[in-house]
Amino acid sequence: MVLVDLSANRRRERLAARLLDAAEQDRAARLVLPGAGREFVLCRAALRALLCSALDCDNADLTFRTETHGKPYALVGGRVAPVSFNVSHSGDHGLIAIAPHGRVGVDIETHDWAFDLPARLLSVFSARERGDFAETRDDARWRLRFYRYWTLKESLIKGVGLGFAMNTAKFDLPSALRRGEADGVFRFHHQPTANWHLATFGNRAFTAAVAIDHSGRGMPPNGTGLPSPRTRRCRFSRIPAGPRDSGPPARRRLVCHSRPTPNP
Ligand SMILES: CC(C)(COP(=O)(O)OP(=O)(O)OC[C@H]1O[C@@H](n2cnc3c(N)ncnc32)[C@H](O)[C@@H]1OP(=O)(O)O)[C@@H](O)C(=O)NCCC(=O)NCCS
Repeated sequence: MVLVDLSANRRRERLAARLLDAAEQDRAARLVLPGAGREFVLCRAALRALLCSALDCDNADLTFRTETHGKPYALVGGRVAPVSFNVSHSGDHGLIAIAPHGRVGVDIETHDWAFDLPARLLSVFSARERGDFAETRDDARWRLRFYRYWTLKESLIKGVGLGFAMNTAKFDLPSALRRGEADGVFRFHHQPTANWHLATFGNRAFTAAVAIDHSGRGMPPNGTGLPSPRTRRCRFSRIPAGPRDSGPPARRRLVCHSRPTPNP
């Protein structure tokens, strides 16, 4: 998993934009909400760099298509690439998960303590989960619970690929996660053989979650099978170039600094 720094930085945004293809640049230009274009450009460029590294391919050969409900998948040279990934961005924070197989979903939410969370947002939670909120009196705990439940649910529906076309109020998060543990396993009633390994993490600035269904392939026997979420932080930088080598866009890359993310 990789955390992407999406904070405003003209130089990085210019470098990142050069990694995008014409359709992506066109899409970025049409994103008018404040920060939306920057989030998309920096996150998509980071995704491109990471996928090129994982698939050992050139940036120019990498394209994306989407499933029916919008979940992107990658193609290299026009062929579907053997890799799973998912992306989320919120304010200055982006999150990318890449897995060799299975389905993966991620969500990250930047904390906004001033934002007055409308009560109607609770409709995305099940009756049991709404009960948990009713029992949480302290405002800060209530908000952290909100971000935790929200990102966990969204990581699941993004893992499945249906997004909010799914009714998230129809299922309960695993009790371990509702009790405050950092990971747990989830099964949809209609799909009991799929084991979704869920994990939550974050810090003072954000809460994030990841959901992975390996469908029983290659999972370690201990625990949930998820390593404790470790993230790397990414920023763009140029590949050191020789005097006459200005470096075409495909040869610009990310520099990732390894740093574990503490839990809140
Ligand atoms: C997927 C969804 C939950 C994302 O919500 P969000 O909180 O605004 O956005 P996030 O930052 O967490 O995630 C955005 C990323 O998720 C990915 N994504 C988009 N749709 C997705 C889906 N259905 N499943 C999984 N991932 C999806 C994309 O990579 C997107 O980033 P990008 O646009 O930069 O490539 C929401 O857009 C949704 O419910 N979409 C489904 C809509 C639908 O059913 N449409 C039907 C007709 S197309």
